[in-house]
Amino acid sequence: MVSATSVKEALNSSAPRDEIAVQGWVRTRRDSKTFSFIELNDGSSLRSLQVIAQNSLPNYSDVQRLQTGASVRVVGKLVASQGKGQQWEVAADEVQIIGASDETYPLQKKGHTPEFLREIAHLRPRSNLFGAVFRVRSRLAYAIHTFFQERGFVYVHTPIITGSDCEGAGELFRVTAIDPTNPPRRADGSIDYAKDFFARCTYLTVSGQLEAEAFACALSKVYTFGPTFRAENSNTSRHANEFWMIEPEIAFCDLNCDMDLAEETVKHLIRDVREHCDEDLQLFAKFVDKELLARLDFVIERPFHRITYTDAVELLGKSGENFEFPVGYGLNLQSEHERWLTEKHFKAPVTVFNYPKEIKPFYMRLNDDGETVTAMDVLVPGIGEIVGGSQREERLDVLEQNMRRHKMDPADYKWYLDLRRYGSVPHSGFGLGFERLLMFVTGVPNIRDVIPFARTPGSAEF
Ligand code: 4AD
Ligand code: MG
Repeated sequence: MVSATSVKEALNSSAPRDEIAVQGWVRTRRDSKTFSFIELNDGSSLRSLQVIAQNSLPNYSDVQRLQTGASVRVVGKLVASQGKGQQWEVAADEVQIIGASDETYPLQKKGHTPEFLREIAHLRPRSNLFGAVFRVRSRLAYAIHTFFQERGFVYVHTPIITGSDCEGAGELFRVTAIDPTNPPRRADGSIDYAKDFFARCTYLTVSGQLEAEAFACALSKVYTFGPTFRAENSNTSRHANEFWMIEPEIAFCDLNCDMDLAEETVKHLIRDVREHCDEDLQLFAKFVDKELLARLDFVIERPFHRITYTDAVELLGKSGENFEFPVGYGLNLQSEHERWLTEKHFKAPVTVFNYPKEIKPFYMRLNDDGETVTAMDVLVPGIGEIVGGSQREERLDVLEQNMRRHKMDPADYKWYLDLRRYGSVPHSGFGLGFERLLMFVTGVPNIRDVIPFARTPGSAEF
């Protein structure tokens, strides 16, 4: 059996070939008098390969019944195409029908809405748009590893099941092996999680940060890149309950160093996709967002604006805009505020830093003003927050005070406090939302359409 060539490789061939085997799914087929045209796609590239099947083929009557969605293997010759728009086509000597399809196949040639395609998330990667999204997703994941590995970062696999609520927001999915019909109970009737599988309460992680800090305080520069889970009931285009996060953590690094790294990371990743996914990006620029390429190039070239939270609030207050949510010192920036800063005011990415301690988690370093902490968020046009990070509190006594202020018991975090007891160092890190970044580089406006099988409130099909 001839070993198969990918459609991408066939299309990029530099010379004709006497023998080639290609395999994939039929996108369309149409008949002319003496032969049939098949558009074959295997997901290796956006473009499909044209196959010409002559009526002299022994199974030509079966070929004529081939429907969109069927899988085939074709053996033949790669020859210069007579048709417009492609250099090569395959003249088939053999068309082997591997898996038939029929007229109920839901992906027909006409365009479909993203909402409809979400309902067939198992088939949508066979569409042009979603094939492109998931090729870019793969490239972006690869670029993340090369970016950090080339800079000497060590990749750490932080746990998925954890006992701590890193962000302190109480948005945790519980992990339990307790029988819900007969849970062990304490004297007061409450469920006794000390008798649960791990002899304590456990959850799906909301962030790998705390564990990454332990590794940064040993290996100096680390990163984790994996799935995180949040039980937040936010039905927006930018929130998912399962999403991937890139979290570098660096010892001997302050807030400025952290902001520099975040900016460098975002720019590098955009540049990488710009270089390696041109064909797919052209598709997004044509059908999803006409401004995409200009915006990406703009972001790569310019420095991000940096502004304190206090100054950002002042700007928003003076903006004259009629925001839905109130603006004021001590209130969280809402997405409409973030978008005003990036889209209307600065017209560029913005890094906002030094937020009031009350609205940020316990681990952030208290500034000398006693009021603000070394938080930083990177905001980008069209999306808002894409990165959240901070310098971490490295002073044991201050960290313990922060914990008490957040109604946490320092005794529950003994291991985390040990990092401040033994060789404590200033250190910083951030979390970059992988899907948010993917939305930014593709222009795709809904997070449900950049993740293979989205988990959002009320929805976990597939
Ligand atoms: O700002 P967040 O909550 O920060 C942390 O979790 C820190 N522990 C990270 C760190 O310092 N190591 O989340 C970081 C980023 C956000 O900026 C956003 O891009 C993304 O994660 N994110 C979400 N993405 C999709 N759906 C959600 N529900 C998200 N929540 C946060
Ligand atoms: Mg955040």
